[in-house]
Amino acid sequence: MPFDIQAIRRDFPILERKVHGQPLIYLDNAASAQKPLAVIEGVREYLAHHHANTHRSAHHLAAQATIALEKAREKIAAHLGAEHTHEIIFTSGTTDAINLVAQAWGRLTLAEGDVVLVTRDAHHAALVPWQMAAERCGARVEPIEIDEQGRIDLKAFKAQLNNLKPKMVVLGHVSNALGTVHDVELLCAMAREAGAATLVDGAQALPHLDIDVRQIGCDFYAVSAHKAYGPTGIGALYGRTEILESMPPWRGGGEMIDSVSFEGTTYGPLPFKFEAGTPNISGVIGFGLAIDWLNAVGLKNIRAHEAAVTAGATAALREIPGLRIVGPEGDTPKAPVISFVYAKPGLAPVHPADIATLLDQQGVAVRTGHHCTEPLMTKLGLAETGGTVRMSFAAYTTGEEVARAVAALHRALNMLL
Ligand SMILES: Cc1ncc(COP(=O)(O)O)c(C=O)c1O
Repeated sequence: MPFDIQAIRRDFPILERKVHGQPLIYLDNAASAQKPLAVIEGVREYLAHHHANTHRSAHHLAAQATIALEKAREKIAAHLGAEHTHEIIFTSGTTDAINLVAQAWGRLTLAEGDVVLVTRDAHHAALVPWQMAAERCGARVEPIEIDEQGRIDLKAFKAQLNNLKPKMVVLGHVSNALGTVHDVELLCAMAREAGAATLVDGAQALPHLDIDVRQIGCDFYAVSAHKAYGPTGIGALYGRTEILESMPPWRGGGEMIDSVSFEGTTYGPLPFKFEAGTPNISGVIGFGLAIDWLNAVGLKNIRAHEAAVTAGATAALREIPGLRIVGPEGDTPKAPVISFVYAKPGLAPVHPADIATLLDQQGVAVRTGHHCTEPLMTKLGLAETGGTVRMSFAAYTTGEEVARAVAALHRALNMLL
């Protein structure tokens, strides 16, 4: 299918709106992507005409809702390359998925003195759950270091694996702050060889990359639907069958049980063992529709388009004296994310939040701050000065929008000096 940007934009009603009287230019896609009509209308159709609780009642609507939920699970399993559909556990998002692993796998496996390695540029969602799990049992969490471009030094990582013998290695697939794409296949192979389990945070990979969990060779992979054109409050954890089967459930409640008595409870099979309570059924349906949308447009087309938009934006931003792009350069693989800071020669850096406020007044939505990656910002020396301004692009971002955003940035910087 040819990539028709105007047809794609027509799929997203929000792109027609104005903000502060200006046409919206939405460059905060790494925080959350907008939703296409297929998702909006599909969820509405389900809620209006097909809703019932799943896996419980014996009536027609309940059967339909259950089939729809399980069909979405099949789609997501196929999209991530899982071997079995039951390896996909629905969660409320990436954060919830990582907490599940840190609690359920952590409780089973981590003991005093054990080490968990986490990439320095990991989102707090991939770090804090492990700190909490480690604190409980006297284990510790150590960073896998990166350079200023966000790249992992493989020699140093290998030495860490040999010296620390970690039980778990947690890798971000794509950095939300810098856009760096890590070679998770290679890193997982190295971790596996050293006897560690692996978890990959795929929150920022889902909207851009072809993901194949078996090729990556990870034990766990976590995603959120809302980063990839789906609803909020729904995501998934992929886990290898054997490792999921070995783990105790995390949350207890309805539908995760086999049999319950006051003397004791036995638990249901995968994936239900990890899905206590009524699931976010409409969210799951929307998630499945978002995956359909991604595949109909084609990830390859989306990547090519986003790469062109990112290259154009990078070139235009580089022409602004005093603006410094932080993160991957040259051939280093990169997602459509540009983080930058600004300081006029000889003057203190301009606070990113001031830039964002002036951009917002002109209809341009960006994110600023530490992007939930404070240890990364500290390492880059940016934590004290308010982090970075981040522009992040999506399938519907146009070169014209980027040009307008850069013009708005010029105006903002002139106002600030
Ligand atoms: C790399 C990364 N991991 C995890 C998360 C957390 O995702 P969620 O808030 O959907 O759970 C995000 C969200 O910004 C992210 O960018």
